[in-house]
Parts: sequence; structure tokens; C-alpha cells
Amino acid sequence: MGRRGNNCVSVEEMNRQREFIYLVKELNKGKLKKFQLNTYGCQMNENDSERLSGMLNQMGYIETENIGESDLIIYNTCCVRENAELKVYGHLGSLKRLKREKPDMIIAVCGCMTQQKEVVEHIREKYSHVDLIFGTHNLYKFPELLYSALSSGESIVDIWDSYGLVAEDIPIERKDRVKAWVTIMYGCNNFCSYCIVPYVRGRERSRQPERILEEIRELGQEGYKEVTLLGQNVNSYGKDLDTGIGFSDLLREVNKISGIERIRFMTSHPKDLSDDLIAAVRDCEKVCEHIHLPVQAGSSRILKEMNRKYTKEQYLELVDKIKNSINGVALTTDIIVGYPGETEEDFDDTLDVVRKVRFDMAYTFLYSKRTGTPAANKEDQVPEDVKKERFERLIEVQNRISRENNEKLLDEEVEVLVEGVSKTNKNVLSGRTRTNKIVNFKGNEELIGKLVKVRINKIQTWSLEGTVI
Ligand code: SAH
Ligand code: SF4
Ligand code: F3S
Repeated sequence: MGRRGNNCVSVEEMNRQREFIYLVKELNKGKLKKFQLNTYGCQMNENDSERLSGMLNQMGYIETENIGESDLIIYNTCCVRENAELKVYGHLGSLKRLKREKPDMIIAVCGCMTQQKEVVEHIREKYSHVDLIFGTHNLYKFPELLYSALSSGESIVDIWDSYGLVAEDIPIERKDRVKAWVTIMYGCNNFCSYCIVPYVRGRERSRQPERILEEIRELGQEGYKEVTLLGQNVNSYGKDLDTGIGFSDLLREVNKISGIERIRFMTSHPKDLSDDLIAAVRDCEKVCEHIHLPVQAGSSRILKEMNRKYTKEQYLELVDKIKNSINGVALTTDIIVGYPGETEEDFDDTLDVVRKVRFDMAYTFLYSKRTGTPAANKEDQVPEDVKKERFERLIEVQNRISRENNEKLLDEEVEVLVEGVSKTNKNVLSGRTRTNKIVNFKGNEELIGKLVKVRINKIQTWSLEGTVI
């Protein structure tokens, strides 16, 4: 406990924010208010939005899907690719009229996009009906900022470049009752040459292990069955602390927490994936045998340009080691198509890796130029039509492999954690295998939150169907 709190926002500051929670409630005269929260980007942002919802609930706001009846509309944004940003601008533009009709309604924009100076300037210039702009480092200050926006009637902009501290004890309202996100570290130190994340999320800051374990123990007591530990590169968890507890040690501790049945984590950078982590995944019975291991590209030349710090051969060796150590492991990945200078030969290397590893699933992206990153200044950008054509070819290969991998499960018995009713059919339950494959099957809603055995009898590319045994 001695080191607890030494990299945290002070208890006094967190108490001050709690006072603002009451002040906002008072300002609204105890009247129930409604908010609409739009979240873009990764699980980290989803988890931040759960914190925003938690603070808002305590301030007397409830969530609504209906924009017209909202007193507050928030965009928690992502800037990892251009189309994520364009979507937000589109929505902001379409709110102009509503704001004119309902001047008391507050429009707020936060998240990764607003950590870029030029974005804030653009919003202030083109979307002057936005009332509140804040960033990723001062999320915990939201009650104070909302109070200022409501009480002053003026636009509030509060963006911090500094990011030294970790905020604990922000209220939370989770979206799900079975599985929970737990952010274990913030920021990224890797500066992959295409990526904006280190610029908008700052350097790596790990949460104190005791705080993480406390949060997960509570989740276990509340009936949560699964936790996913989040970080841009969880393999370097704890390196900035002096606790001597690394990521694999943390996994072993989480594995002891009662109530929790499954543990997942993302993302693992291949350059930092240690033998000890492989051993922890193998040995901890609750840690699911699934590793998300973004390869990004297959060509060693492109990987070097991307500053990924591994070669094609090293990646393939690592995959072999993982497959040989962890029985039945599922591997998923992220791939960027059309990084500047990518030749047909380079792209063949990507296809080659995909065919050799036989990923269960791949998130594939067209390279998107991000201002401020080294890759954006490169002259040899790949034409859009070439990128798209390669992208299609990649998807075709990957889809076939995903399906073939799934086919191996036909007539097999798998353990499924039941998460809820299927999105497409209300009479069908939906859950996941330990290897993170979606399984749909008929069953009673009482099974939600339980581990059941299902026999697989139908295969799709992205999901499986079966019957409860
Ligand atoms: N920290 C994680 C992922 C962060 S962003 C990791 O290192 O794997 C999620 C994914 O978005 C990345 O893995 C990458 O494949 C993709 N991505 C990031 N920047 C991109 C860009 N400029 N264009 C296209 N895809 C990008
Ligand atoms: Fe971006 Fe690379 Fe950091 Fe992932 S590891 S967030 S891709 S800079
Ligand atoms: Fe996007 Fe920020 Fe996540 S840029 S991918 S929301 S860290």
C-alpha cells in the first residue's frame, strides 16, 4: 500500500470534482436531465465513456438514444484514421439547427481528436455551436467543466498537453453486466510511424497494481464474469512503476480473484511479448487462450519503416512459440494496407504472413495519413485505388482462413460465456468461446452470465451456431 497513490491525481482534487457533481445537480434544481453519448474508437474510449456516464448519472442525468430530447450531447472521439474524424464533423454540422432551436442544450466534444490543436481550432471556427471541448488527460475534470459551461453560458475549452498523473475513483456506469473493461495503463511510448495515438494519449502511465486488483475484486463481487485488461501495449505494464510487478505478474494476481471466470487482455505489441507472458497465459486457467497480436505488415522493410522493431521472421517465430506453448490458442491481428512505399512485393509478404499464421480474425485498415506522424510526410503515398484493390485481396484470403479455422469446430463441444440475446434475433442467445469466437444458440435468458457447454452445428465466417448440451 506504501506506493499507492504516488502517480495518482490527489484525493483532494478528486473530492473537489465530487463537489462539482453536487453543484451541477443543484444547478439543474434536481430535475432529471438527459444525455446522449456517442463513442468512437477503441475499447479505451468505450471505458472512458463508461466513466463519463458514471459522472453524469451522479449529476442527475440519464442516458437517452433520442437526440431531440437530450439536454447534453457528447462526442467521445477517435482520430486514429481520417474517417473517424469525418464522421464526428458530419454529426457536429447537423446539430447546428437543433442548437439554434434549443440554445440551452450543451454540445460537448472530447477524446483523442481534441488533443490536436488544429482540430480544436477547426471546431471553434466552423462549429461555434459546440459548448465544451476537453481532452483525454482531464476526463476526471468533466464535472467542473460541465458546471462552468452550464453556469457561464459560454464555450469552455480545456485541453492539457501534460499527462503525468492517473485519475482513480472516477464514478463508472458500465454498459455490460457480464464483462467489463479495465484500463490498466494509459498512453503509448512506441511511436509507430503511422500512428497518432502517442501524440493524443501521451506516454505510458500504469495504474498501481493494487488499484487494478481492487477494481477487479469489486467486479467479481458484483457478479461480473469476464474482465478485459486494456492498454495500448499491455506487455509494458508496470515498467514506469517501481513495484516490480510486470504484466504477467498482474495476470497471475487477477487469476486468483474469485467470481471472475475469464480474463482477456489487449493489445500486445509483438516486440514486448515475453516468454513469461506466454507461460502466464498457459498456466492461468482463467486467462483465455487468445492473443491479439497486431502484425501491421508482412514485409520486414515496411515494418522497419513503421518503427515496429521486429521483422517478418521474428514475428513468425514468435507465433510458432505461442502456438507450441498454448494449446488451442487463437490469434487475431491488425493489418494496415498501403503504407507509404508499399510495393506489390511488400504486400505479398503481408499475404504470406496471413497464410502462414492463419489468424482467426484480422482487423484490416487502409493506411490513413495522420498529420503530425512521420509517415504523413512521406512522398511515396500509395494511390487509393491500389490500396483498395490490395485490401480486397487481403480480406478474401483472411475470410477464407477464418472460415476454415471455424470449420474445425464443427461437432465440437465448446465452453461459452453467455453475454446476452443475439443482436439479430431476439430468441437467440449469444456468447463467446474462450478463443473469442461468437456463438449463437437457442436458450433461456436465465443463462445470461453463465458458462455453458455448446455443441457447434453450423459455421459462418464470423460466428458459430450450436445447441446447449
Ligand atoms: N496499440 C494498439 C492499437 C492501436 S490503434 C497496437 O499497437 O496494436 C488500432 C489499430 O489501428 C492499429 O493496430 C493499426 O492497425 C491501426 N492504425 C493505426 N494508425 C493507423 C493509420 N494511420 N492508418 C490506418 N490504420 C491505422
Ligand atoms: Fe499506435 Fe504503435 Fe502505440 Fe499501437 S503501439 S498505439 S500502433 S504507436
Ligand atoms: Fe482512437 Fe484514441 Fe483509441 S485515437 S483508437 S480512441 S486511443
